Amino acid sequence: QKRLTPTRISAMKGGKPIVCLTAYTTPMARLLDEHCDLLLVGDSLGMVLYGMESTIGVTLDMMIAHGKAVMRGVDKACVVVDMPFGTYQESKEIAFRNAVRILQETGCDAIKLEGGEEMAETIAFLTKRGVPVMGHIGLMPQQVQTAGGYRSVGHSEHETSKIRRDAHAIGGSGAFAVVIEGTVEPLAREVTAAMHIPTIGIGASSACDGQVLVSDDILGLFNDFTPRFVKRYDELGKRISAAAAAYAGEVRSRQFPAAEHTFKRRS
Ligand code: KIV
Ligand code: NA
Repeated sequence: QKRLTPTRISAMKGGKPIVCLTAYTTPMARLLDEHCDLLLVGDSLGMVLYGMESTIGVTLDMMIAHGKAVMRGVDKACVVVDMPFGTYQESKEIAFRNAVRILQETGCDAIKLEGGEEMAETIAFLTKRGVPVMGHIGLMPQQVQTAGGYRSVGHSEHETSKIRRDAHAIGGSGAFAVVIEGTVEPLAREVTAAMHIPTIGIGASSACDGQVLVSDDILGLFNDFTPRFVKRYDELGKRISAAAAAYAGEVRSRQFPAAEHTFKRRS
């Protein structure tokens, strides 16, 4: 296969930074593919595309539909699809069944699921049975309702030791890489140095082996809120709004359509 495999991503540990962005649709996947090592079909799509307030309402069917769309646009990047809330926590058998649905129905390269120590056994069950898994520790958006909001982690000694144990457990679980989100720099650095698999940071400093961001955030397409860790590389939201305003003005003033947009009768 021409796409980067999870094994090749894993081998990038400690080397050139691994470049990741989210993608949810075919046209965006086509645009991002040549620039990225890994494209993540994140359950952030619930908020970014569907206007949900958190990722809790995202379903397996939604992830599979968008996973298929992204696969149609990708030639070269490794494609990872998020397992949504409620599809893997109950038991390792249920996790396996749902992971296989994602792999078989989308053709993607791996799945990602959130959790530290509590999910390590499930990840081991999956990876030993042929499902490549990316972990996700630190801030875990699917736990927003028990964590009391989206806050960076690793401030207290309690949080720090929990994340150390999570990193150790995920490192030993067979996961090929791990996302570390919203984590203070010294801890992200320590965990990256301690783990033998790549850490992909989001709001977790430059010390990680790679970086991931939500595409719509860096493009200025998602403006409900912008976390501190996002850098805006464009303001497409403003440009779309200006384009729509220009179109509306020209329709109302009958400047559009002009002669070149109009079919003449062939004579
Ligand atoms: O859902 C998502 O987009 C994510 C990342 C940004 C890591 O999980
Ligand atoms: Na996610």
